[in-house]
Amino acid sequence: MLDVHGTIPAYASGVLFRTGLGPRVINTDNGGTFQTNHWFDSFAQVHRFQIEAVRGQPAKVTYNSRLVSDGLIEKVKKDGKLNGFTFAAKYDPCMSFFQKLQSVFRPSALEPTPAPNEVSVCVTISANFPGLARDGTPGGPHRKTGVTTIANKTDASILQMLDPESLEPIGLARQTNLHPALKGRASATHAKSDPVTGDVYNYNLDFGRKGTYRVFKVSAETGKTSVLATVSYAPAYLHSLFITENYVVLCIWNSSYVAGGAKVLLDQNLLDSIYYDDKRPAMWYVIDKKPTEEGGKGLVAQYESEPFFCFHTINAFESHNSGDGDVDILADLVAYDSTDVLHRFYFENLLSDSPAAKAWSDPENVAARGSMRRFMLPKINRDPSQRPLKATTCSVGKKDAAPELPTLNPSKVTRKHRYVYGTVDTGKSTLADGLIKHDIELGTSQTWSKHGHTVGEAIFVADPDSDLEDGGILLSVVLDGIEGRSYLLVLSARTMEEIGRADVPGIVGHGFHGLHARSGVDVEGTNALNM
Ligand SMILES: [Fe+2]
Repeated sequence: MLDVHGTIPAYASGVLFRTGLGPRVINTDNGGTFQTNHWFDSFAQVHRFQIEAVRGQPAKVTYNSRLVSDGLIEKVKKDGKLNGFTFAAKYDPCMSFFQKLQSVFRPSALEPTPAPNEVSVCVTISANFPGLARDGTPGGPHRKTGVTTIANKTDASILQMLDPESLEPIGLARQTNLHPALKGRASATHAKSDPVTGDVYNYNLDFGRKGTYRVFKVSAETGKTSVLATVSYAPAYLHSLFITENYVVLCIWNSSYVAGGAKVLLDQNLLDSIYYDDKRPAMWYVIDKKPTEEGGKGLVAQYESEPFFCFHTINAFESHNSGDGDVDILADLVAYDSTDVLHRFYFENLLSDSPAAKAWSDPENVAARGSMRRFMLPKINRDPSQRPLKATTCSVGKKDAAPELPTLNPSKVTRKHRYVYGTVDTGKSTLADGLIKHDIELGTSQTWSKHGHTVGEAIFVADPDSDLEDGGILLSVVLDGIEGRSYLLVLSARTMEEIGRADVPGIVGHGFHGLHARSGVDVEGTNALNM
């Protein structure tokens, strides 16, 4: 039970899951140490805050966490090294990249299946992922209310299934469990969930010189998976995609994988195989959300835009900006002018006492800072076999006010939104130093920050009694770097002022994303949980 200060509203009752990162240094049985060197490669740990709040009474918050990669850690202790996929490890030089790539992107029939706790997967969490049973075998549909299953996800096509309460790893699923065609090894960690139907959309990338992106839908009602369209284009590192009311939008931005692998053979890590390819446009593919067997049209339009790199899409919605009754799509994301930001997350660039960190935290160094960008894809009902249309850049936000790890009121997913919440990096620390609320309509921002405190993703929980888009709270796990302790911060989403907090008696390893599942609520329909 955590010490709670201030107020946590009754509608926050439920569970907040957070992905986090555990140890990065392992003492091995041979007397040595194994150390990861990139933030994305720390061993996976998942955190769970259970909130019980009743109007007029003090809230109770209980906390548990689990190292969900403990089996992998045991193997590292025994072997003295890590075999398998990492984001940026400096690899054992006797293992060629192609061997590694083969294990990551081309599963072989002879490849041993790891135990559920022998993987390190920890970027996003999905509740009640359709098409998969509790242990990751094909199954579903799920009960509408309550969290029945938890899937822990990353940018590969593997899902680690966890017990929703103990967080014990209980199964692994590949996307081939959803559909046999989804045999590629890459996917977006941010699958998109329709806020009305709960259907989940994502892509599966079959790696190779000419990549094959299979964009698919998993029906929440039936658990059935349909491939909506297949796009052939050079493989790129894509962490997220968009959905609108009627379309899936896959943008292949400019974080391309090196073709041929010559540089990769030298560098021996996956991160160094990603390069910023600004010699080509960013490509946008608009795909009908309805499966072709149900009358869907597959790929309906394609566009090209200025090059950029992105981790996180924010939201997309259909509009009628062009006039003539044509439908346009407006798409918001956080864009970067290079892939430098990926290199920023090496530990030597993040630790505040590291000499390398200074250059990255310098506010004048904008190379690794993103900005919010809005693109318009005009007149989507065109023949997709024609030359790609031009996507236009409608607006570009300020570099010191980009809402990273962006969130919004889940009811606004696929609809026109006004407010975006996120973490902000103004150069006061080596990582996110504040939370921001950006008002798109007024072009203004409000921030929350505290000296020496590093913030995590701000998850919006809507007040069911409010009609306002910003009627609700934000939940963020914050590290008090001065006291060396973390706490669950509760902010008013309207004012961005603290209204409550729950102190954790220790550090919650800084991770990426999470989800809040409200007690007794239709999980698929109202919370857009499969983010
Ligand atoms: Fe992410």
